[in-house]
Order: sequence, then structure tokens, then C-alpha cells
Amino acid sequence: MCGIVAYIGKKEAYPILIKGLQRLEYRGYDSAGVALIHNQELNLFKKQGKVSELISFASDKDTSGTIGIGHTRWATHGAPSDRNAHPHFSGNSDLAIIHNGIIENYASLKAELSQRGHQFSSDTDTEVLIHLIEDIRIKAGVDLEEAVRIALNEVVGAYAIVVLSKKNPDMLIAAKKSSPLVIGIGETDEYYIASDATPIIEYTKNVLYLNDEEIAILKKGEELRLINIKNQPKVPYIQELEMQLEAIEKGGFDHFMIKEIFEQPTSIKNSMRGRIDLNKGIVSLGGIREYKQKIINAERIIIVACGTSWHAGLVGEYLIEDFARIPVEVEYASEFRYRNPIITESDVVIAISQSGETADTLAAIKLAKEKGATIIGICNVVGSSISRATDAGSYTHAGPEIGVASTKAFTAQVTVLSLMALSLAQAKGSLSDSKLRQLMVELSTIPEKVEKLLNTDNQIKAIAEKFKNARNFLYLGRGYNFPVALEGALKLKEISYIHAEGYPAAEMKHGPIALIDEEMPVVVIATKHGNYEKVVSNIEEVKARNGKIIAIVTEGDTEVKAIADYTIEVPETDEALSPLLTTIPLQLLSYYIAIMRGCNVDQPRNLAKSVTVE
Ligand code: G6P
Repeated sequence: MCGIVAYIGKKEAYPILIKGLQRLEYRGYDSAGVALIHNQELNLFKKQGKVSELISFASDKDTSGTIGIGHTRWATHGAPSDRNAHPHFSGNSDLAIIHNGIIENYASLKAELSQRGHQFSSDTDTEVLIHLIEDIRIKAGVDLEEAVRIALNEVVGAYAIVVLSKKNPDMLIAAKKSSPLVIGIGETDEYYIASDATPIIEYTKNVLYLNDEEIAILKKGEELRLINIKNQPKVPYIQELEMQLEAIEKGGFDHFMIKEIFEQPTSIKNSMRGRIDLNKGIVSLGGIREYKQKIINAERIIIVACGTSWHAGLVGEYLIEDFARIPVEVEYASEFRYRNPIITESDVVIAISQSGETADTLAAIKLAKEKGATIIGICNVVGSSISRATDAGSYTHAGPEIGVASTKAFTAQVTVLSLMALSLAQAKGSLSDSKLRQLMVELSTIPEKVEKLLNTDNQIKAIAEKFKNARNFLYLGRGYNFPVALEGALKLKEISYIHAEGYPAAEMKHGPIALIDEEMPVVVIATKHGNYEKVVSNIEEVKARNGKIIAIVTEGDTEVKAIADYTIEVPETDEALSPLLTTIPLQLLSYYIAIMRGCNVDQPRNLAKSVTVE
């Protein structure tokens, strides 16, 4: 959370920073700000609210300068306000900083600095860090680079920072620990810095991902220099970005979310590309090939993830246990890491994360690694912190996901988990050849079925119109579609702010049934092969209490159609693969309801896409 961007070079920095902040706005949008050096002056513009507020605020001001830093904030310490917006200045206003992360020992550092006469003008942990750097620079009489290095040895927590100094108008210093930071190497003397590669991609494809505790010194007229916080020189590893600019633009759609929903036939296909060979009858995930035996022999698999990725993990549990007969547990990364879990060397941990930056998932990986487990990653963002922290893994290849509510990343994760389960089953011999083949063929046809399903768009819009003013929603599913019910409810909450709960259909009678009346829409996933008769009984129970049923059924269904108020048909497939289809109408339903309620679907309130704080 929080997006940071910086530029040093020959071009005007402000337009680059603003465009970069707009690309990073998914990381937080409580306030935005930039600091620029021009004519020996350090100019600061910052405003509560979105980047658009900052643009109007700065529209009549002089934003010249060829060096600058910018920030879009997701508030942690200190409420969203102009004064808590980044960049923050040092006491003497010589230094400015942008920061993503949390300085955990900021309170004790602040107390010490206050005793030494420092006065603070915000409630943030970040301002403490820039005061500390200033304090060290003056007290120890060292240069800025050394002051930053010493300060970073004193802080506990997570940071991606960029520091700008009026006294050093040709230099930026960037450093990171636990929060991500990428440096784009432009033309001679030109550098772009950002939380991810999206602000950089249109200028250069040559990037350097900073590792934890590395500090980069970027000076006009000099090559980039890299050290770590122990002052050891490091060799920069410059790599080429594979991302395309079109992938991060709306391409004619009104919102990123709907663009990403409609991209799913392609993103699912991309997740499968080269991984299923129907001629040879082989499923293979190159990234985990060397670890396949280890996984098959694992005592158990523990899947760790957060949010939507956790829901994909639940589908993964069903798939791996069903196909490969290996015990699986699914854990919220945030719970796992703090509950003293029993982990042994024979365990395999699968970490699932779209961004590859989620702080809790990263911490869960570190813990499991310390205890000797093998760590496999399923990430979307190439080169992300999680993908680098794992022993091996498979990328989802969904392409950049910008909408805060995850859609195509979820189906891509489920696709990769399906492939993983099939490939483990194949190696282990736990499924017959004919069943394996049937599943492989089924999986390969999913993209065209998703394509077909997306044509039900208008029908879903009409249902959304009926229920847009509902105050609560219940989502029910069984087996493979229980996680889909959870995901459907999460999607609705996230973007429309309607309270929604997902439940295993049979559990409804142990509580949620008390909520059902004529006001309560109940979305039930009732596919043909998934405990169908039992789900039909659950639907009857809702109907008997006047609840309104929106049912997701298999094409050609007649039984549920006769009792539900509304039905949405999905093409027939194997039940194990049905989440890849049943999820789609639920995404669309949430999207249209949110739009009809006037909500900002791409940037829902209080949320951020990449949660780099615990
Ligand atoms: C945030 C996002 C969710 C996402 C979750 C986990 O809460 O808003 O969409 O599912 O983080 O993120 P990850 O990048 O690890 O999948």
C-alpha cells in the first residue's frame, strides 16, 4: 500500500510523477503529493484525496524541475489529511522523503528526537525517519548517503523510500526493506523509481528490482551505485520488463475491473499456455518440475494467502486433495504466522499472491522457510518479493491487474492450482489415465466457455437493477463452490459496500437462516454435478422463508429454474473446474450493482490492492 514514484533526468519531472501516481493509485488514494527541486528551491505540493485533487491544487503553481518524488497514500499512522500526506520534510526543510511501509519503532525514535529539539508537523512514522536522517547528517557530519544508511540501521519495520535533498539537487537515494521498489534505467543519466513497474514501462524496459536492505544512489552524470545497509557494494542486476503498455490501460472499457473481467478468456488461456499437452497427455508446470517429487512426498501441503487469493487457496485444497490425495490445509497468512504453527521439513507451503507483495504472506513464507519447509509460490507479478522469496513456483500470467477487486487474478490462480493438482496426480498415479485426460480436455475448453458466459452480461445487469438497493446478501455454495460463495460475497462487499456473507449451503440452517425474509437476496450456486439435490433442498428452505433466490445453474437446468426467482446459466463442466465458470457471473453482478450505486469500483473506499503492511 502507498505508491511511490520518483524521477531524475533531463525531462520535466512533474508530468512523469503525476502519470506514475495515477498508475499507482490502486495502492492507496487517501492523499497524494510531490516534491520537486527547481532553482535551488525544494517545492512541495500535497493534498488529501486522490491524485486528481493534487492536479487541480497544483494547476496554477510552478511545478518545474527535472528531479522530484511523488506519493499516493493509504493511511496507516495518522488520518488522511494534507498534513499527513507525503512527501515529508526534515526540520530544516532541506530533505524530503516518500515512504511505503511502517517504521515500527517510530514512537521511541520520535521521543528521542523530540528531546533533542525536533518538532514534527505530522502524525506519521515517515516524518520521524526523515528527521532521523537529518539528525544523523548534522550530528555525525556525514554525507546524505551515509546518513540514510546509518538511519536505516536504526529503524525496525518495512520501508521503500526515496530521499531528495536541496543541498544535493542532482541526486536521489532509494532504499527498501519488505516493501517493493523498482528502478528503471532510462537514457544516459536518467532514472525512474516506483513501487512497481507500471509507471516506468512507457519510458524504459530496463529495470532493477531492489533487494531488501539495499540502497541505490542515483546521480545525474553517474552510473547507478548500489550498496547494502552494512555498506557493502552490490552488483546491480538489470533485467528486461516483459509487460506491455496496453496491459495497464483501460482499452475502451469504463473501468479496469470490467476490462479485467472480460479479459478472463485470455488470461485463463495464458495461465495454461504451454502447460497442457493434449497430444502427449501431459500436464507440466516447468517452474515446479524439480520439486514435484518433494510435493508428492510431503506430509501435508499448507496453503497460505490473504483475501481473494485465500479463496483460490480453498479451491486449491479441494483440487489437490481430490486429484492428488495429498492432505492440504489452507491458512490466512496473518493467522498462520502468529499462532506458532507446527511446520516440519517434510511440509510444503504454497503461497498464493496476485501482487507478490502482501506483507503477511511474505512473513508467513519467511517463518515456514526458517522451519525448513519447502516453499512454492503462485504469483502474478513477475519479479515480486514473494516470487523471489520462494524456492520455486509458477506464475499465473494473468497480466497486470489494476482494479482493486481481484477478478482475473483469481481465475488465473485457480487455473494454476488445477494444473498443479493434475500434474501431481499424474506423477503420483492417483487418477486414472482416462479421468486425467478428461480433466485436461475440460480445462482446455474453459476459456471458450468463459467467453460464452460473458455474453450473459445483459441478463446480469437486469438482475443487478432489481437488487441494487439491497442491504444484505447471502451467498451459498457447497463443495468446490463454497469458496466461490465466499469470493462472490467478498466481491460485492468490496465494491458496493453492501453487507454480504458467503456460507457453505448446508451451514445456513445453523444461523444465517434467521436472517432470511423477503428482503434478503440469496445467491446460490447449484451446478449439476455438485451435490445438486442437497443444494436444491437448501434453496427450498430459503424459499419457504420468502428469500429471493438468484441461482447459478448448469445450462439446461429445469429443476432449480422452477423454484428460483432468477437463474443464470453456466456451461457444463466437471464440478472440480466449475469455480472457473461460476465465479464470472458473481463478478459481473457485483460490478453492475456497484456501478448502479455510484461506487468507484476500481478504487473502493479504504481498500488498497497491494497490502504491504501487516
Ligand atoms: C488486498 C486486495 C485483495 C487481495 C488481497 C491479497 O486485500 O484488495 O484483492 O486479494 O490483498 O493480495 P495478494 O496480492 O497477496 O493476492
